Amino acid sequence: MAQSQAFPPLPQFSQFMKPCRFEGETLNLEVIGTIPPEVRGTFYRVMPDPQLPPRVENDPWFNGDGNISSFRIESGRVHFKQRYVRTEKFVKEREAQRALLGKYRNKYTDAVEFKVRSTANTNVVYFNGRLLACKEDSPPYALDPNTLETTGLYDFDGQLPSLTFTAHPKLDPATKELLCFGYEAKGDGTPDICYFSVGPSGKFNEVVWLVSPVVAMIHDFAVTENWVIFPLIPQTCDLDRMKSGGEHWQWNPDIPFYIGVLPRRGAKGSDVKWFRAPNAFPGHICNAYEQDGKIIMDLPVSDKNVFFWWPDAHGNAPDPHAITAHMFRFKIDPTADCLNLAPAEALLQEDCEFPRIDDKYLTREYTYAFFSLKDNTLPTDWPTVGSRMGGGFPPYNSIARLNVKTRQFDRYFPGATHLVQETVFIAKSKDANEGDGYLLFLVNNYESMSSELHLVDTGDFSKPLAKIYLPVRLRAGLHGNWVDANDLES
Ligand SMILES: [Fe+2]
Repeated sequence: MAQSQAFPPLPQFSQFMKPCRFEGETLNLEVIGTIPPEVRGTFYRVMPDPQLPPRVENDPWFNGDGNISSFRIESGRVHFKQRYVRTEKFVKEREAQRALLGKYRNKYTDAVEFKVRSTANTNVVYFNGRLLACKEDSPPYALDPNTLETTGLYDFDGQLPSLTFTAHPKLDPATKELLCFGYEAKGDGTPDICYFSVGPSGKFNEVVWLVSPVVAMIHDFAVTENWVIFPLIPQTCDLDRMKSGGEHWQWNPDIPFYIGVLPRRGAKGSDVKWFRAPNAFPGHICNAYEQDGKIIMDLPVSDKNVFFWWPDAHGNAPDPHAITAHMFRFKIDPTADCLNLAPAEALLQEDCEFPRIDDKYLTREYTYAFFSLKDNTLPTDWPTVGSRMGGGFPPYNSIARLNVKTRQFDRYFPGATHLVQETVFIAKSKDANEGDGYLLFLVNNYESMSSELHLVDTGDFSKPLAKIYLPVRLRAGLHGNWVDANDLES
């Protein structure tokens, strides 16, 4: 029987989450307000956006094809471009005119054999003149930063030792190294992790293989001056389950929240220490640094299974509306013999995710965290938003800044029928004080059912400097980054 040409009538394919499936460009987007001239560069972001109805009906929203948006800003004008990454999956499915890839990270459910199953849909990172579209199960795809054309799979000129590559590599602002890792690095179900660092010229410096205590998801990681830290999400993989057509991931409430700590330079795999905290779901890293020999790591953590569509072995999953995450600070003594960590300190009681910082402060003691926030005291028109948002995307209704030292807290509210996507931070200049800059993020407008960019000066959270209207709706994305025009030109 021919595959349906309509998307399944499920929340993750409906309303604002209906796939966009658009490629093209719009020059001179409508700008309400003023964009300061020092905002010169490009905001790149990626969204999972299936080009065709899925092979598996109840496919999770983030299994869609990576569709890259770029917003080039110059002289107060904004030019928008959007293009799919030409992954092996995308090309083969376009030719077949139907979906061929099966379940999320389960090759045993595919219609044809793929060399690489990447959807390239999680993050888009600029390094060494290339834009890298990343998905954690594969090497990245390289793109031309100007045209968004796909150059091809990128293995760092043959140096990439791992079959996989994180979607959250970290660029050290001091050394200009790109710090990276891959997990399930020798193939599906393998406990092997490969940590590596790439020098500014593109040459690999460190390559360390280590073994995880469980085969678990490692979505993001943290880096300090002397350490790399791997937080394990208690979603675990079982190869037999995959072979019988089941899910790659299953929530495991019976294991600790493991945190691996490895020396950043000159380490052997056996040098890793696996610290333990009570079972929890670690979110994205805000920042990490060292203080008096201890590692400080800040990140949102949930006590529930955030990926509720992958339940536990008994089929139990939390009510999605009951899932929240809160910013916590972990203190780790890397020299300690006791691997059980002291309870983490709560930095903020509110529900938040997608933390960002002034990138100059990555690996260093810092003051400001910026993130998406769900604040129930704000006057969001939940009946309207709730009826039009579709499923899968967490309903964050504001962008916030937290001073992690004083706990002072500011919020920007985009409007009653609006939700926000992940923000990026743009410094006012290379020498600006920490956090002195702008926040730029996509806003979902559920009244117009189209997208906007809002630009906010961190000196005034009460109103935007500019709202930039798109002529289209962009469904939920995952991550993006701002690239300064000087960096792009050099
Ligand atoms: Fe992520």
